[in-house]
Amino acid sequence: MASQRSTTLVAPLFLFVVSCVSVVSCTQRDVTVLLRVKNDGLDDPHGRLGDWVETTHNAPCNWTGITCDPHTGAVIAIDLSSLNIAGEFPADFCRFPTLRNLSLADNNLNGSLSSISISFCSHLHFLNLSSNYFVGELPEFVPEFVNLTTLDLNLNNFTGDIPASFGRFPVLKVLRLAYNNLNGSIPEFLTNLTELTRFELAGNPFKPGPLPLAIGNLRKLENIWIPSASLIGNIPDSIGNLVALKNLDLSVNQLSGKIPDSIGGLQSVQQIELYQNQLSGELPITLSNLTSLLQLDVSQNNLTGKLPESIAGMPLTVLNLNDNSLEGEIPETLASNSNLSQLKLFNNRFSGTLPVNLGRNSDLNDIDVSGNELEGSLPPNLCYRKKLQRLLTFDNKFSGTIPASYSDCNTLNYIRIYNNKLSGSVPFWSLSELQFIELENNKFEGSIPPSISDARGLAKILISGNSFSGRLPSEICKLEELVFADLSRNQFSGELPECITELNKLQKLELQENKFTGEIPAIVGSWKELTELNFSNNNFDGEIPSELGSLPSLTNLNLEGNSLSGGIPAELTNLKLNVFNVSNNKLEGEVPSGFNTEFYLQSLMGNPGLCSPDLKPLPPCPKSKPITLCVIGILAALVLLLIGSLIWVLKIKTLNLLFNKRHHSLEITAFQRVEINEEGVLAALTKENLIGSGGSGQVYRMKLKSGQMVAVKRLWGGGNRLVDSEAVFRSEVETLGRIRHSNVVKLLLSCIGEDIQILVFEYMENGSLGDVLHGEKGGVLLNWPKRFSITIGAAHGLAYLHHDCVPPIVHRDVKSNNILLDEDFNPRVADFGLAKTLQHDLMEEGGGGVMSRVAGSCGYIAPEYAYTLKVNEKSDVYSFGVVLLELITGKRPNDDSSGENKDIVKWVTEVALSSPEEGKGIIGLGQLVDPRMDPSTSNYEEIEKVLNVALLCTSPIPMNRPSMRRVVELLKHHTLAHQK
Ligand SMILES: *[C@@H]1O[C@H](CO)[C@@H](O)[C@H](O)[C@H]1NC(C)=O
Ligand SMILES: *[C@@H]1O[C@H](CO)[C@@H](O)[C@H](O)[C@H]1NC(C)=O
Ligand SMILES: *[C@@H]1O[C@H](CO)[C@@H](O)[C@H](O)[C@H]1NC(C)=O
Repeated sequence: MASQRSTTLVAPLFLFVVSCVSVVSCTQRDVTVLLRVKNDGLDDPHGRLGDWVETTHNAPCNWTGITCDPHTGAVIAIDLSSLNIAGEFPADFCRFPTLRNLSLADNNLNGSLSSISISFCSHLHFLNLSSNYFVGELPEFVPEFVNLTTLDLNLNNFTGDIPASFGRFPVLKVLRLAYNNLNGSIPEFLTNLTELTRFELAGNPFKPGPLPLAIGNLRKLENIWIPSASLIGNIPDSIGNLVALKNLDLSVNQLSGKIPDSIGGLQSVQQIELYQNQLSGELPITLSNLTSLLQLDVSQNNLTGKLPESIAGMPLTVLNLNDNSLEGEIPETLASNSNLSQLKLFNNRFSGTLPVNLGRNSDLNDIDVSGNELEGSLPPNLCYRKKLQRLLTFDNKFSGTIPASYSDCNTLNYIRIYNNKLSGSVPFWSLSELQFIELENNKFEGSIPPSISDARGLAKILISGNSFSGRLPSEICKLEELVFADLSRNQFSGELPECITELNKLQKLELQENKFTGEIPAIVGSWKELTELNFSNNNFDGEIPSELGSLPSLTNLNLEGNSLSGGIPAELTNLKLNVFNVSNNKLEGEVPSGFNTEFYLQSLMGNPGLCSPDLKPLPPCPKSKPITLCVIGILAALVLLLIGSLIWVLKIKTLNLLFNKRHHSLEITAFQRVEINEEGVLAALTKENLIGSGGSGQVYRMKLKSGQMVAVKRLWGGGNRLVDSEAVFRSEVETLGRIRHSNVVKLLLSCIGEDIQILVFEYMENGSLGDVLHGEKGGVLLNWPKRFSITIGAAHGLAYLHHDCVPPIVHRDVKSNNILLDEDFNPRVADFGLAKTLQHDLMEEGGGGVMSRVAGSCGYIAPEYAYTLKVNEKSDVYSFGVVLLELITGKRPNDDSSGENKDIVKWVTEVALSSPEEGKGIIGLGQLVDPRMDPSTSNYEEIEKVLNVALLCTSPIPMNRPSMRRVVELLKHHTLAHQK
């Protein structure tokens, strides 16, 4: 297209070039050309080029993005970066023979760059097309671009090889090709670009290959940025010739061998990043020549040997050597470095002591020496300059007490010094920035002081396995950010401060194996997030508070080994517990029926007073007449109640039938233009029109006078609703009415009356995906290309609900039956959002709990629902993953053929992962794919991609599931291998 347009322009332009004799006619020509380029090919949705108007004074020179030569008035620069413009590459801009700079960076330009269209631009000095959506191969830059100094194509989607003409830019200084899809090799001819100062190839899936051997020819290079580019082999010796180099980043590749001694030639280098490679051998002694080096990161390699003494002589601010096999002592002289702010030596085999003056001479703020064999005491001067924020020395053999000087290190926020042999008292409980303190398995003693409340932001206290003692001060309740508290295996005593239940972010409270006494606090209303409560092996007494049964997130409850008395509260059986243990207490009475099974026996033992009707070896409970009578009484009352409510329900029904006219107080809100009135709506509710009945109501089909078909949904419920629930309902309906998305079913109209709620939606010709897919013709009607486009459409719809609606809408019941198909099988998400109100209504209705509805449908419910009873958008993602699996396999989510008691997720996961072979993709794929699909239309690469996305979506851990927005991206663009 672009080239066609260009050719049509050639003739008139040429005339202009020839005939443009005066400044005025030149200007007129420029205006015409610019406007033609804009109007022919550029899409300017935000009107950012609105001032490109012929009649503007001084046009075109003071139009947005245009710069003219102040003397000749000729256009010399066009900069339209970040204006949200779209369209193909506007090569015709290059027809200004005077143009030097063209920047179109950070827009939505797309299409490919042909060699023809780029050839018009050979007089440019500066070309920046970064951050667009250009695709296809890089063009050849011919004829020679003799004046080009900057070529920036970063962040596009170019593929293939780097063309030969890229070795022939005589004056190119900046070459940026990072973050594309280039998958050829890195050509040696780039080393002909001897003027280069900046060389960026990062983040491309190149064929594994070495860094060009002659890279040392590029004497003027100042920046090399090639991480994540599949580099293999050795770092070439010639690299040492780069005397101007300031930054060298070759991280995250597979470079191997020794770091060459020649690296000592990088006399200007300030930053060296070689982390995450397979470099081995010792650090070269020549490092000591690098007198400008500020940052050295060679972590995550296989380096061995000692840390050269000479490293202390460099002006390093950052030294990262972690995850190697370095050994020996850390040179004392390192402490004389006056710039060092970050020191990371973790996971090596360093031994001996830390330099005693470390921190004294520099602004040390981050030290991590964990996972070594270091011993002796912690250096007293680490916080000498009052900058230290992170102190990590865990998994070593440090001993002695913590230096008193740490007590006023107010910058400290992250302390992890567990698994050492440190002793004495802890001086930093009350530092105001403290967030994380991890001291487990040392020999610390003393108590937690009341001043701990000064550490306002403390989120984790993990101090298990020390000899701390004394009472827990009530000031601990002021730590409002506290999430994890593990004080287990210490000598704490006394009663718990009652206010501890006010810590409303607390998720884990572990106090086991201490000497706590008194009662377990009963007012636990704020512990909404608490999942684990372990009070075992203390001296707690009194009864187990029944309020524990109302903690909404509790999964682990361990009260073993105390002196608790009284009965086991039946309320505890409401919890969805993974761990439950009340053994070895003084509990008595009958075991509540929920715990009266073999499964819980070990959790109940050691309470001589407990009895059970049938659970051996617990003694049987004594039978007492009054109790039986009482039970009979209650039963009788229940039966009466039931009959009563039956009669009442029947009566209401009859009344409704008799006084049907009462519906006339209907309030109709139309969200779209529809020709329908309330009589019309009510008339539709007949048996003949009924087309479906689901969790939320009955659906009728209705033809309007205009011929348009609509779906009329009468919601279950109505009557006796609370005023506030009605308000919630109205506001939700309002929200739904405003939604406009081609993959979401449109709500046309709502009718709300005192006892009736009707929603009118657009009618979907092909019914629900579930019905079509699992129907007889599912295989024929839905071949793979159709199914694939359904996955993308439905994902778009859900992503819209999650990310683009305000407030965001969680569907709560994603399933194939709630994805409707229009006449062209385009999917639309339906039946969302109202579930919350509906659930409320159903409980209000007094149906005796028979209808109590879980959020979601069997087979689609995310596993966390069982623990938390909460649904959020990640539960929708899980359910959507199940729908994807349904589309691939053609099976229902809980199909018997998936095997005994297996849901579709387990079945697919097992088959897909059963025999993974390196590089061969998913072996079981053939076994999984719906045999009813015509294989000749199936694209197995796509199927595998969808399967991979489905497996991500159905991850048991909500956090690991992608957002719906990401799901759309994954389905549309990427193969999963590129996912980082
Ligand atoms: C264009 O230039 C004229 C005069 O030089 C000035 O008045 C006007 O504001 C300018 N317009 C823009 C958009 O800069
Ligand atoms: C390159 O720049 C020089 C100096 O600006 C100019 O004379 C020459 O015509 C330019 N060459 C091309 C091909 O534009
Ligand atoms: C980027 O390139 C890859 C590989 O050619 C292609 O699959 C993908 O669709 C492209 N993405 C965009 C946004 O054009």
